[in-house]
Amino acid sequence: MPQPQADAIDLRSDTVTRPTPEMLEIMARAPLGDDGLDGDPTVQALEEAAAARLGKAAGLFVPSGTMGNLIAVLAHARMPGEVLAESGSHLVNSERAAAGLTGMHYRALPGEGGLIALTALEAALDVSTGARCPTALVAVENTHNACGGSVAPPEALAALHALAGARGVPVHTDGARLFNAAVALRLPCSDLAAHTDSVTVCLSKGLSAPVGSVLMGSRDFIARARGIRRMLGGTMRQAGVLAAAGLVALEHMVERLAEDHARARALHAGLRAIDASWCASEPPQTNIVQVRVGQTVAEAREWERRLAARGVLVRAGGAGLLRLVTHRHIDDAAVTRALGVFGALRREG
Ligand SMILES: Cc1ncc(COP(=O)(O)O)c(C=O)c1O
Repeated sequence: MPQPQADAIDLRSDTVTRPTPEMLEIMARAPLGDDGLDGDPTVQALEEAAAARLGKAAGLFVPSGTMGNLIAVLAHARMPGEVLAESGSHLVNSERAAAGLTGMHYRALPGEGGLIALTALEAALDVSTGARCPTALVAVENTHNACGGSVAPPEALAALHALAGARGVPVHTDGARLFNAAVALRLPCSDLAAHTDSVTVCLSKGLSAPVGSVLMGSRDFIARARGIRRMLGGTMRQAGVLAAAGLVALEHMVERLAEDHARARALHAGLRAIDASWCASEPPQTNIVQVRVGQTVAEAREWERRLAARGVLVRAGGAGLLRLVTHRHIDDAAVTRALGVFGALRREG
């Protein structure tokens, strides 16, 4: 695959963020141990700090969001069973091959703004004796990637949690970008995590850590999850090197997400000024901007290619859609330059 040019404006994802100088410095002097033997003190500090911040009893450091979600499914669910998730969610689209590993059936339900519609959930929940495929888990995604970084507020989460909980079904939240949701709502992230039994957050997306996610839940759940992580080969050794960057991410990188959200709104406004049909009139709630440049995958890919040739990297996110993600390496000048390229390509037709 060709490497992007050095001065490219990289709007493909917030996962491209590189560690900060403070992270690199702290990684070099982190106290270390063997996390698979008697423990790594920096990993333990990160797990405790993340759990405290989210209001959960315990945490588990994992290599990726995908592994955090997979462990959550395995730790919650009993076979045979079904995992219910919103139809555009990362879990039932990008992670659906994992269903084979879990032995569970993943079922997509219609949503409203990225959250499973309550009527659809009510109809799908089945824990009756002798059910063919009883509901084992309900999965939520907040913010919702494919819905343009949409935010699920605490009231909606509480209603969904109550409905599932009344049937004895746990809820897991894929909170790859939960901090973006909390910052957008100006709420502590524990207010969002209060309405879920477990949650995965990613440190390696907008928060700039190089690697890692944390899965959180009750002490019993995390003890089970720790064994499953080992089974999957996700136990790391002197992982404090990575956890140290995660601690900086948690402590110093959350509030600045508001800057990414403001730049996403600026991109959205600028794009609409070029062609009002490109973006919905509602501004983005967080750091993802969706641009409708056509109706087909081929049209989106063509725009992706033409933009890349002018140094603006985006991703074709489906039929006719481009996905632009703001992050720490996108400043005001990058927004202006990207808009200039969009404008030039629009004029060229
Ligand atoms: C909503 C969501 N969940 C999970 C993941 C998976 O995270 P990872 O790439 O760390 O496995 C992503 C990745 O972009 C994501 O956007």
